[in-house]
Amino acid sequence: MNADIEKLQKIADSSRRMVFFGGAGVSTESGLKDFRSPDGLYAEKYKYPPEYMLSADCFYRHTEEFFEFYREKLLADGISPNAAHYKVAEAEKKGRLIAVITQNIDGLHQAAGSKNVYELHGSVLRNYCTRCGAFYDEKFIKNRRPVPLCEKCGGVVKPDVVLYGENLDEQTLEGSVRALRNADTLIVAGTSLQVYPAAGLIDYFRGENLVVINRDPVNVGGALFLQGKVGEILSKIVIK
Ligand code: APR
Ligand code: ZN
Repeated sequence: MNADIEKLQKIADSSRRMVFFGGAGVSTESGLKDFRSPDGLYAEKYKYPPEYMLSADCFYRHTEEFFEFYREKLLADGISPNAAHYKVAEAEKKGRLIAVITQNIDGLHQAAGSKNVYELHGSVLRNYCTRCGAFYDEKFIKNRRPVPLCEKCGGVVKPDVVLYGENLDEQTLEGSVRALRNADTLIVAGTSLQVYPAAGLIDYFRGENLVVINRDPVNVGGALFLQGKVGEILSKIVIK
């Protein structure tokens, strides 16, 4: 076991209030693309810039184009949790971890068994009518083309995903800050930390152990940095 993995193992053994803060890199080992890697979503060519395609303005003014992009790029068939999701869920079950804070919208942490998950950017699994608030699942969005309309009132059904130009959910933010303030260990994984306010949340952490696990270098002062695939690295430690 190399020295950094040994250090991570010791941290896992001594932590009682871990928080796992993840980004798109946590789901790439499940077959989902991330955003800013060379083979990520934002490297592809589109009619409008991808940040526009995922904006509230695009949703309301170019609704058909929005849903075409959203279905093609953000909805994936047959994805399942990977080793990283399962290890994090195990740490919660064994009383070592108090919360997951994720920028991902794929619901894979919950699918792996995690209970306390703050989804900063929402979830593709929840969709609501913009007129009457009726709930619809991901399948409804996949199948009702070109624009999913509410069966009750005909309103446009909108994914419960934070689009560019929209605010994050207050309660989710408050819960995340509370967890970070209370944590003894923070593991930041699979994120380039380029999108705010999400990336700024880690500044609330005051605990003892700050760990960053990322395939590409990312700059977080004072952290134990393990470079590599988060699923592979977490598979090397045992949660006791
Ligand atoms: N293991 C570890 N790190 C990985 C892996 C992996 N298997 N795969 C990719 N990475 C790293 C990449 O090196 C990159 O630094 O994960 C990071 C992913 O960064 P981004 O693509 O920028 O994704 P993220 O940080 O989650 O983006 C934040 O931007 O577009 C918005 O709302 C979107 O939630 C997203 C937000
Ligand atoms: Zn409706």
